[in-house]
Amino acid sequence: MSGICDGRVVVVTGAGRGLGRAHALAFAAAGARVVVNDLGVGLDGTPGADSPAARVVAEIRAAGGEAMAHGGDIATTEGARSLIATAVERYGRLDTLVNNAGFLRDRMLVNLDEDDWDAVLRVHLKGHFLPLKHAAAHWRSEAKAGRTPVARIINTSSGAGLLGSLGQGNYSAAKAGIVGLTLVAAAELARYGVQVNAIAPAARTRMTERTFAETMAAPTAGFDAMAPENVSPLVVWLGSAASEGVTGRVFETEGGRVTVMEGWRPGPSADKGARWDADEVGDAVRKLLACAEPPGAVYGTT
Ligand SMILES: NC(=O)c1ccc[n+]([C@@H]2O[C@H](COP(=O)([O-])OP(=O)(O)OC[C@H]3O[C@@H](n4cnc5c(N)ncnc54)[C@H](O)[C@@H]3O)[C@@H](O)[C@H]2O)c1
Repeated sequence: MSGICDGRVVVVTGAGRGLGRAHALAFAAAGARVVVNDLGVGLDGTPGADSPAARVVAEIRAAGGEAMAHGGDIATTEGARSLIATAVERYGRLDTLVNNAGFLRDRMLVNLDEDDWDAVLRVHLKGHFLPLKHAAAHWRSEAKAGRTPVARIINTSSGAGLLGSLGQGNYSAAKAGIVGLTLVAAAELARYGVQVNAIAPAARTRMTERTFAETMAAPTAGFDAMAPENVSPLVVWLGSAASEGVTGRVFETEGGRVTVMEGWRPGPSADKGARWDADEVGDAVRKLLACAEPPGAVYGTT
């Protein structure tokens, strides 16, 4: 197994199934040694019987690659710290972190319990921040010791975070937060040799195969556009030294398509040079909106 990640050590969170599994297998096939993390929880985060990480490690080894399992909860300080420490202790280095783990608790906002809000914000947003923080601390000490790394972080957002999605207020807020975190991390960590990007994927996994059964179904013949393996080549490239100079970006990726997402930027604007009255600001806003780009439709509204 060799390729654009030869010699690199890669950590993938939530890599026991779905997209994370596909990324772990693809990184191993590209020559990386991979730490496969997964806590092994149900679709809504309820504790599972065992971590599927060991099965993915076995698959990688059977194909001639090198990998090890980590079964910790990445949304806890101890889980995130031990994940990064495990990579460094076992393989002597860390080059790439893929933040991917997560689960859903979909409800319309009026029915969304505080617990469902907290659990989803915790696993996605805190579950990105903590591994990122521990990996960044490692890379900062490497840089300070004169060994500036060629380090990469790939975060996992979602179309729900970029446009919003009905019934997913908690998830959309967490995934939008991940974009903000990505922008700050890219700006703060550049000096330590770390590039940080985010993807917004779409693929057939247990998270999507029932809700979007028709869109996600595998064709009987031809290109299986919704296979999770289609998302991994971009993640492997972003996680390799070959992506030099690419940071602070968000990519939508699905099937054979990769799209650079262009984020918030100033549109039409008016400046009175003094404080507005409420009625006159309303008139001004309506004029501005008339020449502004309309926002994309929230998922589920069309
Ligand atoms: N499938 C899609 O179309 C799609 C679309 C947009 C975004 N995403 C995002 O992609 C990522 C992967 O999703 P998937 O579709 O492969 O789902 P999945 O349920 O197949 O895989 C997620 C994995 O994360 C693990 N996990 C959950 N909480 C964890 C924790 N605290 N610590 C460690 N592991 C934990 C689960 O056990 C599971 O194996 C998620 O962040 C998801 O929100 C997926």
